[in-house]
Amino acid sequence: MKNWSPETWRTLPIKQQPEYKNAQHVQEVEAQLSALPPLASPSEARALKRELADAAQGKAFLLQGGDCAESFAEFSEENLRNFFRVLLQMTMALMYGAGCPVVKVGRIAGQFAKPRSEGTEKKDGKELPAYRGDMVNAMEFEEGGRAPDPERLLRAYYQGAATLNFLRTLARGGYASLKQINRWNMEFVESSTQGKRFGELISRINECLGFIQACRLPIDEVEQFSEASFFTSHEALLLGYESSLTRLDESDGKYYAASAHMLWIGDRTRSPDEAHVEFMRGIANPIGMKVGPSMTPDTLLKLIDILNPDNEPGRLTLISRMGSSKIGAQLPPLVRAVQAAGKTVVWSCDPMHGNTIKSPNGYKTRKFTDILAEVRQFFAIHKAEGTVAGGVHFEMTGQDVTECLGGAQAISEINLSDRYHTHCDPRLNASQSLELAFLIAEVLKKQKG
Ligand code: PEP
Ligand code: CO
Repeated sequence: MKNWSPETWRTLPIKQQPEYKNAQHVQEVEAQLSALPPLASPSEARALKRELADAAQGKAFLLQGGDCAESFAEFSEENLRNFFRVLLQMTMALMYGAGCPVVKVGRIAGQFAKPRSEGTEKKDGKELPAYRGDMVNAMEFEEGGRAPDPERLLRAYYQGAATLNFLRTLARGGYASLKQINRWNMEFVESSTQGKRFGELISRINECLGFIQACRLPIDEVEQFSEASFFTSHEALLLGYESSLTRLDESDGKYYAASAHMLWIGDRTRSPDEAHVEFMRGIANPIGMKVGPSMTPDTLLKLIDILNPDNEPGRLTLISRMGSSKIGAQLPPLVRAVQAAGKTVVWSCDPMHGNTIKSPNGYKTRKFTDILAEVRQFFAIHKAEGTVAGGVHFEMTGQDVTECLGGAQAISEINLSDRYHTHCDPRLNASQSLELAFLIAEVLKKQKG
């Protein structure tokens, strides 16, 4: 990589960074992070890149999901278990619909920092720095807590480490076996009205599993049936944290971000000549970039050339987040430009960030119908263009929260206050996530004919 080091971003203009009071304290924390063990290894990052290379060709399907913002307060075994269970259940539905492996990537074990539209927040005549995620400051509207504290970078690292460790044990320890996941899905079908609609799909999966067993294949002993491969990702927002956790891999002479397997650039920090793009071009991990309604074909092609100059398959995932009313006009010209330039990317759909609204009672929310409408259009556009709809990107949780409106559970505006726990954007709850995955599975199945 020419003229690049993990530090070259430091001389460029940069957006969305906290203003720490004590620069020396930040340097001390970054020095500590530099000496700590990596969370993700280069060989795992390369394995993910290979899986994503398949997704770019339609031979695999990417499911990326998790919290908008992880928090220190909601960190528990139960929450992680519930999240992983729903992700696995969604995976089974999508595998069946897409007829190919599902690449599972969590927005987890590092998703602690948030870009904000406003640098400050005003309440009752008082103005304080905006909450930027638990990795930066406290959510409570209170002067001391809102001051950015570099020690929080270390706490995020350690929580990320414990999270990843637990998810690895779940992925390998039988929790992720197909039989188990199928049992959960049957429960979903039997115990809820929204599940009943998908009864037929589940019984087909059941038949497949029955057939495998009838062949005397030891389903609990075969790795492919009893274990899941799982990867982590987060937005690469705080570049001091990311560059301190970047390591040189002696085996291929390349630098890898060690804070997660995959990092992405947010929609607010993707200027071609600024710090975030500079940092991301030099790490060898698979990376994502959010593509919002202000993106033009020219800028997109310029960014692709900077971020993936060798057109390496699996390196770059473009995460479209247009909004259900804009995707129809905005996405096709971008898809066409990428296709015409012969660039290999994974096109993924984030139907969350372009569909955020404020409810009359003041909650930031999203309508299930808008989310589904954006996903449906995403698939239709790729079908019409002859390109590959490679994956989806959701803000979701395994908890029974009431943050997004609708779904078969019919969460309404008055319900929002019941269990509104998110630290940033509204997430799909377990039931809404599953319902969405089953609806997408139906679309995928129909498209395949
Ligand atoms: C996010 O993914 O939480 C986010 C802030 O997205 P975007 O950069 O697309 O706005
Ligand atoms: Co968000």
